[in-house]
Amino acid sequence: MPDASPAKWHLAHTTWFFETFVLFECMEDYRPFQAEFRNLFNSYYNAVGDRPLRALRHILSRPSLNEVHAYRDYIDEAMVHVLSDELSPEAVALVTLGINHEQQHQELIVTDVKNGLWANPLRPPYRALEDRKVGAHARVLPLAWRDFAGGMQSIGAEGRDFFYFDNEGPRHDVYLEPYRLASRLTTNAEYLEFMRDAGYGKAELWLSDGWDCVRNNQWTAPLYWEQRDGEWWHYTIEGMKPVAMEEPVCHVSYYEADAFARWAGARLATEFEWEGAARSCPVEGNLLETGALHPRAAESGEALMQMFGDLWEWTASAYLPYPNFKPAAGAVGEYNGKFMCNQMVLRGGSCATPQSHIRATYRNFFPPHARWQFMGIRLANGN
Ligand SMILES: [Fe+2]
Repeated sequence: MPDASPAKWHLAHTTWFFETFVLFECMEDYRPFQAEFRNLFNSYYNAVGDRPLRALRHILSRPSLNEVHAYRDYIDEAMVHVLSDELSPEAVALVTLGINHEQQHQELIVTDVKNGLWANPLRPPYRALEDRKVGAHARVLPLAWRDFAGGMQSIGAEGRDFFYFDNEGPRHDVYLEPYRLASRLTTNAEYLEFMRDAGYGKAELWLSDGWDCVRNNQWTAPLYWEQRDGEWWHYTIEGMKPVAMEEPVCHVSYYEADAFARWAGARLATEFEWEGAARSCPVEGNLLETGALHPRAAESGEALMQMFGDLWEWTASAYLPYPNFKPAAGAVGEYNGKFMCNQMVLRGGSCATPQSHIRATYRNFFPPHARWQFMGIRLANGN
C-alpha cells in the first residue's frame, strides 16, 4: 500500500528528524552516523535533498533493524549531549517539534501495521483477542442533536505556553450560522442501513470524484469489511471479528462520509463548527492510553460524546491556510504548509492518538479517498 511505511522506516525517519533539524543545526562538530542516511530517511523535505520514492520504502531491507537501532542509539546519545547545554529558543522549538513529529509517526505505525497484516490473506491479528466488557450486546445510545448558537468564534491556537503546529494558527475570527452536531459518532448499524439501501450504488448521493472512486475501486463497504456467510466481519487489531453494530463505523473515506451524510439528510461539520463545539469538551476519551486500538461504542451519556479519541472525524473543510499563515523559515517550513491542496481536515484524534498530542485546535489532513487511518463520521446540520 503506497501510503503505508514499514515500522523500521518510521523508527529511522523519526531519528533522522532529530539528526537533520537539531543535531546538524545545533552541534558544531556533529559527525553523522552515516552520511547517506540524510537522503535515505528523508520523507518529503525538498530543502534537505533527494529521497527514495515513498512507495518503495518497503524494499529497503538494508540497513537492518539492528543497524537502525544502532543509529537510534547514536542519535539519542548526541541528543542527550545537546540537551545538557543551554539551548536557544529556536533549538528548543525544533526538539519539541521532533517529539510531536515522533508521536505522529507512532500513530502511523499502528495504522500501517494494521494495513500490512490485513493485506496478508491469513488476516493475522496484531495481538490476541481481549476479553472486553463492552461486547456485541452493548446498548446503542440513540443519536441526539446538540444545538450551537454560532456567531463569531475565535478559531485556532495562540500563545507560547503549549506546543501547537504552525497550521493551527494564526488565531482568527470565523462567523458561524447556528448549527447542530450529532451527540455521538455514526455507528456501524446506521452505516449498514445506508449500505442496505444501496448507498454505494446511487450516484445522486456521491460527489463526482467520490462516485468515480467507488466505481474504480469497486467499493461496497468500509475498508477491512468482508462478508462471511451473509454476515459482515471486519479486520481489527485483534484479527477478524463480526462487525459490532453499536461501535462507530471506521475506515471510511471522506467520500463515504459525505455520501452517508447526504443519505441521512444531514451533512458534515466544518472544521470551525467542530472546533467551536470541542472547546468546551475535556480532552479525554478512547485515546491511545486505553490500549483498545479500536473505536468503542458511545456510552457516557454526555451531551457531546467521542469528540476526542475513538476516530478522527472527517470535516467538510478543505485543508487550507488560516488567514496570515506563514510557514516556519527553512526546511521545517515544509512540514505542513505545502500540503494545503486536495486534502480534507479531520479533527479530534483517534484510539491511536496519545492524549498529550491532541487538542481542540489540532488539524489532521488526508486526501478524500484515504481510508486506512482510524477515520469516522459525525453528522451535522443547520439549526
Ligand atoms: Fe515525518
